[in-house]
Amino acid sequence: MTSTISWIDDITMTELERNPYLVYERLRAESPLAYVPVLGSYVASTADICRSIATSPDFEAVITKAGGRTFGHPAVIGVNGPIHDDLRSMVDPALQPQEVDRWIDDLVRPIARRYLSEFEDAGRAELVGGYCEPVSVRALGDLLGLKSVSSDKLREWFHKLSRSFTNAGVDENGEFTNPEGFDEADAAKEEIRSIVDPLIDNWIVNPDDSAISHWLHDGMPDGQTRDRDYIYPTLYVYLLGAMQEPGHAMGSTLVGLFTRPDQLEQVIDEPALIPRAISEGMRWTSPIWSATARISTKDVEIAGVELPEGSVVLLSYGSANHDHTVYDRPSEYDITRPPLPHLAFGAGNHACAGIYFANQVCRIGLEELLETIPNIERDTSSDVEFWGWGFRGPTALHANWEV
Ligand code: HEM
Repeated sequence: MTSTISWIDDITMTELERNPYLVYERLRAESPLAYVPVLGSYVASTADICRSIATSPDFEAVITKAGGRTFGHPAVIGVNGPIHDDLRSMVDPALQPQEVDRWIDDLVRPIARRYLSEFEDAGRAELVGGYCEPVSVRALGDLLGLKSVSSDKLREWFHKLSRSFTNAGVDENGEFTNPEGFDEADAAKEEIRSIVDPLIDNWIVNPDDSAISHWLHDGMPDGQTRDRDYIYPTLYVYLLGAMQEPGHAMGSTLVGLFTRPDQLEQVIDEPALIPRAISEGMRWTSPIWSATARISTKDVEIAGVELPEGSVVLLSYGSANHDHTVYDRPSEYDITRPPLPHLAFGAGNHACAGIYFANQVCRIGLEELLETIPNIERDTSSDVEFWGWGFRGPTALHANWEV
């Protein structure tokens, strides 16, 4: 299948991953619900279309082709009905605000302080690999019960799973153009199982307060646990997205603030502004840029496009969050915007389960960083590069300060 607009047939994965904004600005203007051959799917690029498909009764969740190849079945993001209800009933309890508020400070603050103590006296640091990612993975790793797995290992796993999940390019027959792109995640999953299987063996007989132990036991009849093969695909959702995205969100927020030194100063003087800075950071560069999808359950017409039953539509929330009809100057980071909702956490019954937890991790991470190093500046001797179409964030962020 090809699109009806020829430039759309020429879109490549490489250009999407380097900078999807140029392509998507054109998509929003010319073909906001377009069939994009390299992705083998329709793509929704405006706020209105993303939101209406995510909340429509005529669509249900489906995992993308590369996502399904990476996670297997049943991953929470790609199932519906009773299995989705069960997986949400498994993951949701630990992520409720009243639950998270009980322990989030004690969990995240010491982690943030520990990583800060490694570089605060050095006067310089690379913040993505040295702070944002480690704080993100350590907080969730400890919550899940993966205390024995090092932060570097957790980071390595999410990077490998992430590249595999977004290895989306297909040819005209719908076959993956880069099948070797899945190999590193296949190896990572073998390693994950070799480390997590013995932990599961132990939790089955000795339940504790870790999230995975609860996943195994909660809601099950006495003496029974959920099957590990049933849990693993959703654990991979966590080991990829939930590990990676708070780090992306902190990194993008910092880059955004560095583009507005006046606003950075305001936020440092008034830390109560940090949640607003994070929300704008996630609108500006959405961590989950285009990773989830829906499938039509009957023939439907949306935005003048006839979609037959069974059409897969990728929800490009990162593009929706740059929609000119919603936001003024969308490509600028600006914490003084009117408080319009954004789609960085998705919409509908598959919206992010970790919204509250993720926001608290980012808030505490940035509070600690900016309180400890209030004179932080971007090191302008190196550029900041962003990468990614499925998931997006800065690959490195060098900062310096006077000690
Ligand atoms: C800043 C960080 C994060 C961002 C921006 C983010 C964003 C998203 C988005 C866009 C989706 C897909 C929504 C849709 O398809 O409409 C999603 C799904 C999900 N997220 Fe997050 N997420 C973040 C962190 C987390 C964390 C830390 C957790 C868990 C601790 C988590 C758990 C989940 C789960 C379980 C789903 C699947 C929900 C379902 O399909 O029912 N997320 N997230």
